[in-house]
Amino acid sequence: MKWAKDFYSKTGKWWGPAEVGITDKDHKRAKTIKRLVPNAKNILELGSSYGNTAVVCAGDGLKVTGVEISDRIDFSGKYKEEYPNNLIFHKEDFYQVKLDDKFDAVVYWNGFGIGTDSNQRKLLERISNEWLKPSGKALIDIANPYVWTKWTGDEEHKDPEPELGYNYSVNQKIDFDPIHNRFIDIWWDSNHPEEVLKQDIRCYSPADLLLLLEQTN
Ligand SMILES: C[S@@+](CC[C@H](N)C(=O)[O-])C[C@H]1O[C@@H](n2cnc3c(N)ncnc32)[C@H](O)[C@@H]1O
Repeated sequence: MKWAKDFYSKTGKWWGPAEVGITDKDHKRAKTIKRLVPNAKNILELGSSYGNTAVVCAGDGLKVTGVEISDRIDFSGKYKEEYPNNLIFHKEDFYQVKLDDKFDAVVYWNGFGIGTDSNQRKLLERISNEWLKPSGKALIDIANPYVWTKWTGDEEHKDPEPELGYNYSVNQKIDFDPIHNRFIDIWWDSNHPEEVLKQDIRCYSPADLLLLLEQTN
């Protein structure tokens, strides 16, 4: 799991200037919370990245606590100024962070699956035993192996687009480990092919996920 801080900080440096900003995706996520946890007043967002979704939720009147390990969170300064009372970010590891609050919902968008099954279980146990109120709900995106196997072998080169905030020329290649059901998303700065960055994420089919959830409360 040690790669995570470096991978998301470095790629945040590449893409942050373009990607800090609210999109439809953030509004859809806020709507999903409203639909599935209509009485939610305070939420915890794990892996909150630049803070784009968190700020939309704060704008909807929720008290939002975000936990983000990487430098991506350094882009969230202006969001905190907008909502000083109901938007809190911790630049910390969610396996280590100590939080006093209990939450109506814990959300983790597009990030679950770093590390081993026992790492995921430990996180699920923290969610259920430490952070959720008894009536609370966890909303977690799960990487779908059927999608990632389709993308295996895909390679792409992206030229910089400075007018959009993409200042780096980068390459991507996608690989899949069918034995361990993990996708490997490989990136490098086109000018430094010797410095390869990888995110390596466990995918779960529904049956696989049910096995993971056993005994996690
Ligand atoms: C794939 S990104 C998704 C970001 C954001 N949730 C989104 O959907 O745009 C996963 C995020 O989780 C963060 N993350 C990974 N492991 C973490 C940890 N142990 N503690 C806190 N944040 C973590 C990463 O730094 C990264 O910003």
